[in-house]
Parts: sequence; C-alpha cells; structure tokens
Amino acid sequence: MTLAIAGKTLFDADVGGEADEIGDALSDAMKLFNRLTLPFSQYLERLPLPATRRFNKARQRLDATIYRMIDERRKSGHDRGDLLSMLIQARDDEGDGKGMTDVQLRDESMTIFLAGHETTANALTWTWYLLSQNPVVEAKFHEEIDRVLGGRSPGFEDYPALRYTEMVFAESMRLYPPAWIIGRRALSDYRIGDYVAPARSILLMSQYIVHRNPNYFSDPLRFDPERWTPAEKEKRPQFSYFPFGGGPRLCIGEQFAWMEGVLVLAAVARRWRMRMVSGHPVELEPTVTLRPRHGMRMTIERR
Ligand code: HEM
Repeated sequence: MTLAIAGKTLFDADVGGEADEIGDALSDAMKLFNRLTLPFSQYLERLPLPATRRFNKARQRLDATIYRMIDERRKSGHDRGDLLSMLIQARDDEGDGKGMTDVQLRDESMTIFLAGHETTANALTWTWYLLSQNPVVEAKFHEEIDRVLGGRSPGFEDYPALRYTEMVFAESMRLYPPAWIIGRRALSDYRIGDYVAPARSILLMSQYIVHRNPNYFSDPLRFDPERWTPAEKEKRPQFSYFPFGGGPRLCIGEQFAWMEGVLVLAAVARRWRMRMVSGHPVELEPTVTLRPRHGMRMTIERR
C-alpha cells in the first residue's frame, strides 16, 4: 500500500501491481547491506557470491521501474506538478545550468521512492501489532476515528482532528523506530562533551536504544500514546525522540509520513481491526530498517 502511495503521489505512476516483486527485490538488497558494513566488504562485493548476484538482480529490478517512470515522463513532456516533474525541470543554477542526467534522476528518484515507502510500511505494521495487543488504546483510537469521520473515508482536511491517532503513531515509532540507527563518519577529530571521536571513526546513534531509555520514558516498554500530549512532550529534551533524524539531513519526508501514517490508520481502522494469528512469532529484523523478521501474520476482522 505504501509503495502504491509513493508511486502515485510522487511520480504519478501506478506501481501497486508490482508491489510484491519490488518488495522482494528490496529485501534482497537490504540483506546485502549488512554485509557491506563488514571489513573488506569492497572486495567481497566484487566476488560473484550468491548474495551479490541477488543484489545485482534486485538492483536491476528496481532500476527497471524507476527508468520506466523517467522515460514515460520525458516522452510525454507533461508537467504533472509532482516530484518527478520538479526533478526533471530542476536546473543546476550554481553549476553548469543544465538539468539532471537520467542517472542523476534515477539516483534522486530511487532514494525518495525507497526511503518513502519501506519506512512507512514498517511503522504501520508495528502500529497494527501494538494496537492488537493493547485493547484499551485500540478502543480510544476507534472512538476518535468514529467521532471525527462519522463513517466517511478520511481526507486531508481530517488530519488535524485525528490527534489521538497521531499519538498512537508517534508512540509506535518510539518503540519500533523504522530507522533504528543512523551513522556518521567524523571527517576530522571531533569533540563531543568529554569524548573525542578521532578522524574517520564512525559514530552510530540508535533511535531504538534512546527511545527505550527510562530517563526519558518511564516504564519504557509500555505502549502508552498519552506520552505524546503537548504537555508531556514539552518535558523531554529534543533528541530523546528522533525517528526522522535531525539537523541538516533531517528526513525530507517527515511531514508526508505523519500525514500518510495517520490517514492510512484511520482509513483502515474505520472498518477493520487486526488480530495476531496465534503462535505467530514476533521478532525484530534490524537491517537498514526495523522489519518484523517473520512478517506480521494477522487476521483482518470487520469492526
Ligand atoms: C515513518 C516514515 C519515515 C521514517 C521513520 C524516516 C526516517 C528517516 C531518517 C531517520 C532519515 C535521516 C537519515 C540520516 O540522518 O542518516 C531520513 C532521511 C530521508 N528520508 Fe525519511 N523517513 C520516513 C519517511 C520518508 C518519506 C515518506 C520520504 C519521501 C517522501 C522520505 C525521504 C527521505 C529522504 C530523501 C532522506 C534523505 C534526506 C537527506 O539526506 O537530505 N522519508 N528519513
């Protein structure tokens, strides 16, 4: 669903039918990512190992979709007012004044296309899981949706009124942050408080760990959306919660993701609730994003 939304809103393309294939390609690509963090990975990458071959195939699969979207748009010459049209029209005012090559367009589009759906899909999956385990929260969430929507489908104009739904989504990303760790490399010796990170060292910051720190969140393992009332939020320091990162490389899609998450939750929960299939194991698979290792087997029930 999030893939179809990213395709439609950002590229005005219908890619919903390719969702399974693209999802599989992305899984293969992410599996190799773990290996890329190992020493000597640049040499490993050149060997025709099965994982590398799968990665190259996955890349070709993803490229095929992206290049098709670019090609269709260039041919049509239409300004659809979406992100892809903006990228095609962009000119490098500080450089040669030209537009982007197909490879540059592919790189920019691929980043946004992948960053824009895999994260939100994980956030939503964990949210359905948490709701299924917490009936009191779920009842309050349903109450808000029924009251605000009165049986209609939600639209953009409903977003401001769906406050509790947003608190549920925020609390879900506290416990299961889709981006669970981010890293930076120190370009030169860099001092942080009493520590000096030597040049070239890699610094990792984990949302997963900080979000579960009892100094910031009492009884941290408890799923409690009430932590996200404005008054409660104000009591905590800024970077005790950073699902979208921070600073100059803050997620460019943050506002999009909040709105999408809230509206999708409301649209689905208006009619349906999800229940775990009994005995289904729930484990973490932390790669680039925080996926549930065995998927999330749920039964959909009409409310
Ligand atoms: C729940 C959903 C999302 C989460 C948790 C998330 C998280 C993040 C995080 C933590 C970063 C910073 C990475 C770093 O500092 O190294 C980031 C960057 C980015 N995100 Fe998101 N994101 C989400 C949704 C989206 C969406 C919907 C889009 C596009 C429409 C998007 C596009 C991007 C891009 C392009 C960057 C790179 C920005 C830059 O480096 O300047 N993200 N995201």
